[in-house]
Amino acid sequence: MGFIEKLFGKQTKEEETMTTEKLNIGIILGSTREGRVSPQVGEWVKGIADKRGDANYEIVDIADFQLPFLGTTDGTEPGITAWNEKLASLDGYVFIVQEYNHSITGALKNAIDFAREAWYNKAAGIVSYGSTGGARAAEHLRGILGEIKVADVRTHPTLSLFTDFENMSEFKPQELHLDNVTAMLDEVIAWSGALKTLR
Ligand SMILES: Cc1cc2nc3c(=O)[nH]c(=O)nc-3n(C[C@H](O)[C@H](O)[C@H](O)COP(=O)(O)O)c2cc1C
Repeated sequence: MGFIEKLFGKQTKEEETMTTEKLNIGIILGSTREGRVSPQVGEWVKGIADKRGDANYEIVDIADFQLPFLGTTDGTEPGITAWNEKLASLDGYVFIVQEYNHSITGALKNAIDFAREAWYNKAAGIVSYGSTGGARAAEHLRGILGEIKVADVRTHPTLSLFTDFENMSEFKPQELHLDNVTAMLDEVIAWSGALKTLR
């Protein structure tokens, strides 16, 4: 028996699984419009994240779920169930947030409203973009996350439409953002692991 086991007793199978299983982190694309740039930003974050090898990172594209506008249907569309199941399978999130009229997109708010318990007790990071780094949209999202029991981490990479995109459409991020993305992911992983113990 090792020193730690002697001190604290042997881990149960459940505890063992919790400490050895990799976390599942969804990188959620917040925009769905034709010609959107969010897939480029999401893939960039995923590329940085995958190199860490510390979790299973996946892109979660709201557009794939073809969610109706909340309240306009009887709510039986398979996409609604699939969306909830996808969220439930994740331990944490990174939101790719774009600023639309000083807030998040209607598509992201609609998608958030389509789930409840599936969000609870998880952590999230935010990567935003816009003319002022998408800061206003990100702050709105933080308020919403409080209501759905998602703990948003402090470090927040902000990308500028003027200096991180060519012609506001081709994503060419400046080097300086790398440290911020890494620090944000460090916080998301730490908090996602901690919050898993509550679920
Ligand atoms: C309806 C709409 C409203 C917008 N409002 C803002 C805004 O208030 N502030 C801002 O910085 N950019 C604004 N933009 C610019 C977007 O941030 C920019 O087009 C960005 O690329 C949108 O993300 P997407 O390409 O992933 O859809 C707006 C764009 C749209 C389509």
